[in-house]
Amino acid sequence: MQIRDRTFVVAGGSSGLGAACVHELAAQQGRGMIADLRPPSEELQAAVDGRFGHHQTDIQDGDAVRSLLQATVERWEAVDCVIICAGVLHAERIVGSDGPFDLAAFRRVIDVNLVGTFNLLRLAADVMRRNEPDETGERGVIVTTASVAAFEGQIGQAAYSASKGGVAALTLPAARELGRYGIRVCCVAPGAFETPMLEQAPAKVRETLAAQTPFPPRLGRPDEFAALVRHIIENPMLNGAIIRLDGALRMPAR
Ligand SMILES: NC(=O)c1ccc[n+]([C@@H]2O[C@H](COP(=O)([O-])OP(=O)(O)OC[C@H]3O[C@@H](n4cnc5c(N)ncnc54)[C@H](O)[C@@H]3O)[C@@H](O)[C@H]2O)c1
Repeated sequence: MQIRDRTFVVAGGSSGLGAACVHELAAQQGRGMIADLRPPSEELQAAVDGRFGHHQTDIQDGDAVRSLLQATVERWEAVDCVIICAGVLHAERIVGSDGPFDLAAFRRVIDVNLVGTFNLLRLAADVMRRNEPDETGERGVIVTTASVAAFEGQIGQAAYSASKGGVAALTLPAARELGRYGIRVCCVAPGAFETPMLEQAPAKVRETLAAQTPFPPRLGRPDEFAALVRHIIENPMLNGAIIRLDGALRMPAR
């Protein structure tokens, strides 16, 4: 799918990886809506220069996501592509010194990262399937965000890894089912990226992750994530794929 003059919804687009996607899409003459609990910074708003609006959305909420998609169609006449970066991090041991894992916290991480991703995917697909197909028969592209923690979850990442494993596993059944409408679904599994989310982790953890990355031995930059998302959008053969973007990082147990 070409990016120019297409309409994008970027969930989690106010920060980190999602904000980098908004930046890149606007630079390529795309437009659309940032769906995030928080508004984008003034700096991001100024950089995208009216090409992206903000819709305050909790991706777990069906009515909020319906209203987001409706507002996007009203403003831009379509939803061509959805990029789902909204997510939360949570670290807790299954059996910690304060007792077993807080079940409400486990549910919250699954609800935001997995149920929220599925909620937006299902409602966006229902809107996209009504799009006029382009000259290649394509009606839409959906990009989700898992994590290398889907495959190498560390001690303390039970909830986060389970949620991201679910996001990764969703990719193929979604691509298989939505292929009949000309909608592609791909998933990016990032390693460690320099974003506000990773800043929540202690500096020592960030330094260790960077040092454990074979090459380049540093944290990823959000614009490198956005470059991959751009390629997924533009390359029609990429479908049903979970793509690691991690500098060959394989996270150890701790
Ligand atoms: N940064 C990394 O190293 C890294 C690595 C692997 C995977 N990821 C994943 O990439 C995605 C983006 O992460 P990031 O590092 O840019 O994080 P971030 O915290 O910088 O941005 C996440 C955004 O999601 C929004 N958000 C959270 N819950 C939401 C909800 N329920 N509804 C709508 N918006 C919500 C937040 O307001 C925030 O703007 C996340 O899914 C994260 O798990 C990040």
